[in-house]
Amino acid sequence: MSEIVPVPPSIGAGSPNPIVDLGAWRDHYQRVANDPDAYWLAEAARLVWRTPPTRGLDGSFYEIADGPIAWFADGVHNVHDSCVDRHAVATPDRAAIVWEGDEPGTTRTLTWAQLKDEVCRCANALEALGLQRGERAIVYMGMVPEAAIAMLAIARIGAVHSVVFGGFSAESLRDRVRDSGARLVVTQDEGRRGGRTFALKSVVDEALVGAHVPAVLVLRRTGAEVPWSPGRDVWWHDAVASASSAHEAAAMPAESPLFILYTSGSTGKPKGLLHTTGGYLTWASWTHRTVFDVRPDDVWACVADVGWVTGHSYIVYGPLANGVTTLMFESTPLYPDAGRYWDVVARHKVTAFYTAPTAIRAIAACSADFVTKYDRSTLRVLGTVGEPINADAWRWYHDVVGAGRCAVVDTWWQTETGGICIAPIAPATPTKPGAATLPLPGITPILLDNQDRPVRGPGNGRLFLTTPWPGMARTIWGDHPRFVATYFPGPPGMYLTGDGARRDADGYYWITGRVDDVINVSGHRMGTAEFEGAIASLDEVAECAVVGYPHALKGQGVYAYVVLQAGFSASAEVEAHIQAACRTLIGAHARVDLIQVVPGLPKTRSGKVMRRILRKIAEGDTSNLGDTSTLNDPTVVDAILRGAKV
Ligand code: WTA
Repeated sequence: MSEIVPVPPSIGAGSPNPIVDLGAWRDHYQRVANDPDAYWLAEAARLVWRTPPTRGLDGSFYEIADGPIAWFADGVHNVHDSCVDRHAVATPDRAAIVWEGDEPGTTRTLTWAQLKDEVCRCANALEALGLQRGERAIVYMGMVPEAAIAMLAIARIGAVHSVVFGGFSAESLRDRVRDSGARLVVTQDEGRRGGRTFALKSVVDEALVGAHVPAVLVLRRTGAEVPWSPGRDVWWHDAVASASSAHEAAAMPAESPLFILYTSGSTGKPKGLLHTTGGYLTWASWTHRTVFDVRPDDVWACVADVGWVTGHSYIVYGPLANGVTTLMFESTPLYPDAGRYWDVVARHKVTAFYTAPTAIRAIAACSADFVTKYDRSTLRVLGTVGEPINADAWRWYHDVVGAGRCAVVDTWWQTETGGICIAPIAPATPTKPGAATLPLPGITPILLDNQDRPVRGPGNGRLFLTTPWPGMARTIWGDHPRFVATYFPGPPGMYLTGDGARRDADGYYWITGRVDDVINVSGHRMGTAEFEGAIASLDEVAECAVVGYPHALKGQGVYAYVVLQAGFSASAEVEAHIQAACRTLIGAHARVDLIQVVPGLPKTRSGKVMRRILRKIAEGDTSNLGDTSTLNDPTVVDAILRGAKV
């Protein structure tokens, strides 16, 4: 029986949240279940519409093969009406974006009026560069305010943004440019992070070789010399600064595409998940307001990167729609030392803070003085996302960072879900360290066992969601059959999350991690197939298999079993080639933690790699490897066990 941590007494005081206790959660849960259209139309009405929607959901999970679901299909708006323009009128001089640069104390503030001006200028500049409604533009930048401005400007003209995390390699960027059919890229000379610079513009140049991308807009961040293609490349400070700050936001139907975000799956190339304007914005703003219990005068800090979905929903769209000051953070939790987050919290008077368990574990490994020497009395809510949080890290966050006064919310969701799905509601839900707790209203989880039978009451299973909610991705860009095959492969009407979960006697959900071939390293989601493709591209590699294994700091580590071609043997050089291949073909964040050169892979007689065995060995769980009698060559397993790295 795990302990229950009650909601700290002061959390709900003065809250505008309609859900302030478990009774209210139950009531809202039931109201959505009874009439989802009415419930979500009422929430959508908190956005600004030019034509308010009268339709709720169209389509269903049962008919997903016939076409994507739709929400609010007859509504017309532009996300700007809700995210920028209304606040520029109501609170023009309040801070919209506060930026904390890499060097401590380097800050910039954009008021709502300034944000509107900048976005309009950028929108005019993008249109002058030829970008039109419906076309795609890539944003490949670091954590600068202009990344958010570019996203918003693209949305303002009714185009579609696809943000690519600044750590991805030229090869990965090229795939995304190609798949999205982008006609413009926004980038910067270099990025900065943790006292170092990293290349961005030169990576774009490499990625665009042979591509038909007529315009690249380049922000100067570090002042480094960068290669230049006249006629294609344009400086931000020329094009945007000189543009007019008057711009009419395009009128967009609620189901028009807002963005494509690529994410790793268990097989093949990354998938471009498509989110649309009306349902996504309703979900991002409602979950942000509800789960974190935000108030109008909050200073909200989500220290993720805009290149991931967390940055989209909880740095940009959710907080801006709610009119809350949102902090953008360019640095790392350990630069210049382990006190950086709390230095930021103290100086900017942050009231709610959102990070990943990996960062918490890294900081918790250092002295508590790094935390306690800073004033954290403004903090009310502390959130985590991206990977399971272990009870110790949860406790440390609650006791040391929050000094026992703050609500801790462990939020489960995915790129595909658009926003939070299973999480405590800060003022309402008693928590348990390590549990994502209860589904939000509108989210209907079900656990299936290995025979696809529903698990009733407490138990373990694969997590599916059975009813559509407004924020869910509509499809995979350009490939709806792949969307259906990937996410609805099993029992009809059920969305497959790819995660395993346990439900306890109180109905609380504990996410146990991916049950497919996705590895989650420091909250970065990567496919084993991507690693395998990169490693197998080397001449000296005959074949390989990659699995995840538990890693004390990163959550999961990457374990590669590699079979070399005849004539090659294990060496530091081979290892360096493997790392370089992953870096070049995927990105700087794709490092292999353990490489084991093996004589062969365990395969069935039909040639299928038995990953289950490799996973167990990587986990150090070798007492019972299960049935190996069906293997083509069982002696391979003994050889792998003898050389195992854990
Ligand atoms: C994992 C990030 C446990 C999970 C928002 C999911 C989590 C994947 C949690 C999605 C959590 C996210 N507890 N696991 N609170 N939050 N995950 O698409 O495996 O980058 O499927 O979205 O992260 O990763 P993605």
